[in-house]
Formats: sequence, C-alpha cells, structure tokens
Amino acid sequence: MNDDRVLEVDNLQVSFSLGGGQTLRAVKGVSFHIGRGETLALVGESGSGKSVTAMTIMRLAEYDGARLAGGSIRMRLAGGEVVDLARLPQKRMQSVRGSDISMVFQDPMASLNPVFSIGFQIGEAIMRHQGKSAAEARTIALNALKLVRVPEAEKRLDQYPHHLSGGMRQRVMIAMALCCRPSLMILDEPTTALDVTIQAQILDLVRALQREIGMSVLFITHDMGVVAEMADRICVMLKGEIVETGTVYEVFETPLHAYTRSLLAAVPRLGSMADKDEPERFPLVELRDDPGLAGTRDAVRVEAVPA
Ligand SMILES: Nc1ncnc2c1ncn2[C@@H]1O[C@H](COP(=O)(O)OP(=O)(O)OP(=O)(O)O)[C@@H](O)[C@H]1O
Ligand SMILES: [Mg+2]
Repeated sequence: MNDDRVLEVDNLQVSFSLGGGQTLRAVKGVSFHIGRGETLALVGESGSGKSVTAMTIMRLAEYDGARLAGGSIRMRLAGGEVVDLARLPQKRMQSVRGSDISMVFQDPMASLNPVFSIGFQIGEAIMRHQGKSAAEARTIALNALKLVRVPEAEKRLDQYPHHLSGGMRQRVMIAMALCCRPSLMILDEPTTALDVTIQAQILDLVRALQREIGMSVLFITHDMGVVAEMADRICVMLKGEIVETGTVYEVFETPLHAYTRSLLAAVPRLGSMADKDEPERFPLVELRDDPGLAGTRDAVRVEAVPA
C-alpha cells in the first residue's frame, strides 16, 4: 500500500441472506482508497450500499447478518502496520475500532444509550480502549466535549442523551469518536436530520478538527452541496457499485454518469435563492428502474423534500 494512504478497499462484496434461498448483494465489488488527511465523500441514493460499506469496514455489518463475500480492506494502523480488516479476528477489530477508526452513525439516538449519562458513555470507551482510570477518563471526556464546542461541557457530562438537542447529540457522538484520536473517521450522514444552521456548524467543526488532528475522513451523504464543501474526492454509488469517482473538481466539472449528472442538476444554481426568505433542503434524486429510460433525463426523478 502506498505510503500516503490510510485505507484501501479492493473489490469489496457484501451480501445478505433474505431467506428462501434469496441473496441480496448489497455491495458488489467496490474499490476506493483514502489518503492521509484526505476527505472522501461516498454519495448515492438511499439503499445504494453506503452504510453497509461503512459498517463492513468497521466489521460491524456481520452482527447485522451481512456476509463478507469477497475483497480486502487494507488499513494502516497507528503503529504503521498494514492489516486486512476483512480478515482480522473480531478481538483485534475491537482494538482497531477503539484506536484507529471510529464512526459517527446515521442515527445518534440509536448509538447513545438512554440510561447512561454522557460522561459515563464517553468515559467508558476511554477506560476500555485506553486503560485509563475513571478520573482520567472524565478529564479526557471533558476535553473532548470542549474540543467539539459543546457549551457548559462540565454540566453536560452528568446529563442524559434525552436532555440534549439533535445537534448537541451529534457533537457528543463526534466527541466520542475523537477520543481515540483515530487516523480515520467515518461519518454516516451526520447532518441530514439537522436544520441547516446546525448542519453548517457541525460541518465547520469536522473540518476544523480534521486540521487540528490531521485525520482522514470518509463522509457519507447524498447532499452534493455538502460534498462540494467538505470533500477532496468523491465516489458515486448506485445499486451496490461505484459508478463514478474523481476529485470533487473533476466530477462537478465533467460528470460522466447520468446519475451523477442528475445529482448535480438538483443542486441549486447561484442566485436561484434570491427571492426566498429561508434556506431550503436539497431535493431527493431517485433513479427509475425502467431499462428503456437508461441514460435519459426521465431515468431520474427529482423530488422536493418537504420542509
Ligand atoms: N441487516 C440487513 N438485512 C438485509 N438487508 C439489508 C440490511 N442492511 C441493509 N440492507 C440492504 O442493503 C442495501 C444497502 O443498504 P444501505 O443501508 O447500505 O443503504 P444506504 O446507501 O446507506 O442508504 P441510505 O442513504 O438510505 O442510508 C439495501 O438494499 C438495504 O435494504
Ligand atoms: Mg445509510
């Protein structure tokens, strides 16, 4: 693996058994790499396999019934050793998840435990993965909350997830993910559920943190506006495959695939908001399954997202 790379995914294949002998191939031979300090955006319609790809890199997908049917996931660990995560025993994966890669999941409420305080949840991960005492873990947790600009951080440590707003919970998730100073952070739609102002704050925060601690980021989204703002390179996924890849500049300038073009067509043009009072959400883009429509504009349905 090239010295300047942190992750190299090659021909990744993931499937689910649906019962009755049926198999769903959710990821069909996906390949991409992420450089040191680089942000790669993984974009694509709902169900195209973005989360399954991310959960497979974390080796969490198999707990959800996924089968890793082929391919490799080479990762450079903190010590410099390159390992294939696809073949690592779960016991070692636990330490990789605690110290080399961390993930902010699509739904923060599902990944925070409602019955434990914020301080306990961040602290527990630190004690487990870094062998710190409870008091040390509390200090690290406090600093992590300050790092992600959570106001009144000290007070928050003793609060429970339901005390926090959506944006604040998302910051707590990012703080947790940062505690291990990962070389790679995966963010799965970290801002989709948030209003545009909070969304912008979270994105600013991720960028600032990335500069501060120099980590690589795999950013999953279907919002091309977010891609333009955050990413260096982009991979466009469609039905379990990567159909287009390049630098953000290349893909925005000369999109080759009809689906990418339709995604970009949905991005508002400069000036188109002139007579609107408030920011609007990006429309949803959906590809129709009719083979007769392939490559035409009608192959794509663009729908406004209700506010
Ligand atoms: N546990 C599971 N069992 C069976 N099928 C699953 C499971 N998890 C995901 N899938 C299927 O795998 C495919 C890819 O799903 P995935 O969650 O990766 O989509 P996605 O690109 O993240 O979509 P979204 O943008 O909606 O989050 C979908 O067809 C989904 O229904
Ligand atoms: Mg998803």
